[in-house]
Order: sequence, then structure tokens, then C-alpha cells
Amino acid sequence: MFGKLIPIFVILLLDICLVSAKELLVVTVATKETDGFRRFMNSAKKYDLPVLVVGMGEEWDGGDVARFAGGGHKLNLLKDALAKYADREDLVLLYTDSYDVVFTNGTTDIMIKYDNFNARVVFSAEGFCWPDHTLSKEYPTVGATEKRFLNSGGYIGVAKDIVEILNHRKVDNRDDDQLYFTKIFLDKALRLKWDIRLDTKSLIFQNLNGALGEVMLKFKGDRSFMYNVKTRQVSSLVHGNGPIKPEFNRIANYLADGWTKSSGCLSCNKNVLSLADTKLPDYPNVMIAIFVESSVPFIEEFFEKVYRMNYPTSNIDLFIHNSILIFFFSFIFFFPLFSFSLYFLFPFIFFFPLFSFPFSKRNEFLFSS
Ligand SMILES: *[C@@H]1O[C@H](CO)[C@@H](O)[C@H](O)[C@H]1NC(C)=O
Repeated sequence: MFGKLIPIFVILLLDICLVSAKELLVVTVATKETDGFRRFMNSAKKYDLPVLVVGMGEEWDGGDVARFAGGGHKLNLLKDALAKYADREDLVLLYTDSYDVVFTNGTTDIMIKYDNFNARVVFSAEGFCWPDHTLSKEYPTVGATEKRFLNSGGYIGVAKDIVEILNHRKVDNRDDDQLYFTKIFLDKALRLKWDIRLDTKSLIFQNLNGALGEVMLKFKGDRSFMYNVKTRQVSSLVHGNGPIKPEFNRIANYLADGWTKSSGCLSCNKNVLSLADTKLPDYPNVMIAIFVESSVPFIEEFFEKVYRMNYPTSNIDLFIHNSILIFFFSFIFFFPLFSFSLYFLFPFIFFFPLFSFPFSKRNEFLFSS
């Protein structure tokens, strides 16, 4: 009976032996312990990844990087914190942002992929050349399913090289970190010196901005993961870079086995509060926020469920945001007239915005307890 298992064991052992003997350390910069940061740390813990957090508690001086250029502060914090690894050839550092990142696999997977690159430093890639799109022409071309441009939200490399790259030039806290690395990558001499490659197939780093149409959530037994249908790869981490945070926050609920078909919401069992010994008036106040951002079927049934929830309503604040235009009235006018004549329709088309406007304007409701 166990005979069948032996070949599997041999393959597994071989896999582990083939991975380089180098140690892996995840590094991130985070100045605040946001929900996103906690989500990141939970995923790192799930996959047993050691994390060095740099800058916690410091005042952030790098601007609003989700929308504008900036982020040089990140480099300066890293420079100081990583100086002690300047001589380490046996240590591989994986830098990643954390507020908008979730790990979906661990050290072995990352190191197999890193070794397969046969490069010393690998940067993540995306489809946008940002913040200076005029540099796009200088990038090496890539295949149709690949991403061409450097994203500085994730990179992996030998510690010695990473420290050298960080110390290559002086950066101001308000300078752009992505531009800093882009210029190094586009300088052929420097690219060869540090043997820098881009993860154009999203093997390790899946950047989501501009790629939401290429990925899908998949479920297999008690596991959930993100599959890239274009490259047919499953990345080791997922990064909701740029302006797609709402979409990423939604997707991230499912990643790292947060929700699976067989077990339901696994992350719902984390940080639970027992109310067994709490008297009713002392129940904590909860806020429920419902965002209806696109037309969804069975919305009445959904609200029914919310209504039937077993929690004292006096302790619930309910926020509803609706961005669906309600065309209800205009339709009532439209339908009976449709078969008559187009002449009848004309005035209604004209007044169409008037009919729908009053209903679409008030789209936020707050019911406070
Ligand atoms: C992690 O990666 C390995 C191979 O590198 C793969 O066999 C395994 O299924 C992955 N695990 C998850 C949870 O995706």
C-alpha cells in the first residue's frame, strides 16, 4: 500500500534538494499597522515566511504612492536597515510592499522559481510604464502574454546585490522609488553588473493593476488560489498595486485559503470575540457597510438575510452605498409607448436624464443606532 507513496517522496525530496542552499528573508517597509499590513503578516505566517518589517512607527514622508510618484522614503529606510547584510552572498532578500500584498505560497516555491530565473536580482513586472512613460521605448521587448515594465513593489535577489543597488545613488524621500530602479534597469551596464531580470510572466510576483482580466480565483479542495489564464501560472504572491485597492481587497478575502469551497470562510474564524458572558446592552457596536457597485441579482434576498441577522439592531450601524442608476421611472414610460411610434419616444429620450436623476443622486444611506 505504501509502495505507491515512495516515488512521490523521492520527487518531493529531490525538489527540496534542488533548491539552492540560500536562506530567504522577506523584507517590507510599513510605517503603520493597517488592516492590509495585518492581512499581509497573516499570509506570511501561514506559509512560514520570516519577515523583517522596516520603519514601523516612523512618520511616512514618501507621499501618496498609490496615486502619485513618490516613495523614496522607502529606499532610505531600507538602506539603513539592510546595511548589515551588505556582505551576505548566502542570503536572498525578497522585498515586497505589504499594505496591498498577500502571499499565496512559501519559501520552497519562491526559491525554486528564483533559481529558475538564473539571475541575481529579479524585479516584478507590470503592463504600465510608470511614472515616466517616455522611458517605455527603452525597455527590452517581451512576448504577447508577458509584462514589459518594472514595478518596484516587489523584487528578490542576493542580499549583497540588493544593498549595492539601494546605495547606488542618493535618493530624496520624495523622489520616486520606481523611477530609481527603472533607471538602473534601463542602464545596460548596470543591468548586466547586477544581473537584473524582470518577472515578465508573473511567476513570483502577480501585479494586478491592468491584469484583473487575466486572472481568476480557483478553488481546489480546501485551497484557494489565483490562476493567471494568460501565462498559465500561479504566482507566489499577489500585489494589488496602483489604484485598484477596492478590487484587491475583495479578491484578497479569498486568497491564502481565506475562503474555500469546502470550508467556507476560514478567515472569519480569526480574532473572534466570545459574547457568551456578555449581557445584551453590552454587546459591541458593529458597523455593517454594504457597497452595491454594480448590478447584482437577488439583491432583495441579500437584504432579507441582512435583516434577519441575529444581532440586536440597537448595536448595529448600517452604511449602504449604491452606485447603480435607477432607471425605473423611465422604463415605465418607455414600455407602453414603444410599440406606438418613435415620435412618441422622442420627448422621453429627451427627458430621460430628468427621470433617472433624482433617484441616482442620493446614493448613500447611514442608519446609525
Ligand atoms: C506552492 O508551490 C508548489 C510548487 O512550487 C505547489 O506544488 C503547491 O501546490 C503550491 N501551494 C499552494 C498553496 O499554492
